Amino acid sequence: MRNRNTVITLSQFVANEQAKHPDASGNLSKIFRDIKFATKLVNRDVRKAGLVDVLGEHGSTNIQGEEVKKLDVIANDEFISSLSAGGDCCAIISEEEDYIRHLNPDAKYVLAMDPLDGSSNIDVNAPIGTIFSIYKRVSPVGTKATDADCLQKGVNQIAAGYIIYGSSTMLVYTTGAGVNGFTLDMSIGDFCLSHPNMHMPEEGKIYSVNEGNYKTFPEGIKQYVDACKEAKMSARYIGSMVADFHRNLIKGGIFMYPASASAPNGKLRLMYECNPMAFLIEQAGGKASTGDQRIMEVEPTELHQRVPVIMGSTNMVDDVLNRCN
Ligand code: AHG
Ligand code: MN
Ligand code: MN
Repeated sequence: MRNRNTVITLSQFVANEQAKHPDASGNLSKIFRDIKFATKLVNRDVRKAGLVDVLGEHGSTNIQGEEVKKLDVIANDEFISSLSAGGDCCAIISEEEDYIRHLNPDAKYVLAMDPLDGSSNIDVNAPIGTIFSIYKRVSPVGTKATDADCLQKGVNQIAAGYIIYGSSTMLVYTTGAGVNGFTLDMSIGDFCLSHPNMHMPEEGKIYSVNEGNYKTFPEGIKQYVDACKEAKMSARYIGSMVADFHRNLIKGGIFMYPASASAPNGKLRLMYECNPMAFLIEQAGGKASTGDQRIMEVEPTELHQRVPVIMGSTNMVDDVLNRCN
């Protein structure tokens, strides 16, 4: 918990991290500034949901055929306008954008995001989130960003994180040197370091999976879920990946969205859901797999590509993998 004598804000923390790399240009830190600003806008809208007209359907579907909620669109617009104004991204991939959104060709970073994760929870006041992932472009600065810039393997991520709009609002991120969590102190309007150097327990007692799909699970996953019940483990699944992930990161546990007969690649998207969470969980000492390979080594072929996901405490993920292979 935060020591009252030494408050470190997100901006101070990012600046201190930047100072460890004397050759750093400061552009990544500026992206964090823009993410922070967009997060405050989304947080404001989430906290007023129910009072102003942000609940419910937007009236459209996205390229994946899912119904879009008003807050999905609002959050997407807020992140894009903040990152666009900052000028440090050459392109954005978003769940709510059918194609690559081109921004400043002179910038060197690409950002992938799920602007509002857990849309089905918006109208019922359950936790929701935002997920982001940052890559360095591979094409020359000064040109239009390419597919190759946007479809990089997760191992190339420069940074990744999420924001959870829960009982408090938190931003958790990694740049490959551990995982740190910051809580928004509404009284001062700033994120303060509250969860330094987050580590996930190797073992946990929580399993998170939509058991309504049990009958369609692969045999190994069924076996694992049966074993969880046998061992009287706790089933916890809210249906917002960010919230399920955040709880399991802190307490230890496993989160799965496996393949099924009707969805052979599962449901969750590689570029803006699975890769960033895989980077975070590995940095916290956990593990993330598709069942066949490490999530961050999957070669992306499409912006909105889906992959099966098994992620969490190392021993639990290994147990699933042993049953599946
Ligand atoms: P999104 O709201 O960004 O489309 O993501 C919803 C995802 C994820 O947050 C969650 O883990 C999963 O969908 C829940 O799916 P089911 O309702 O099929 O369990
Ligand atoms: Mn999502
Ligand atoms: Mn979403």
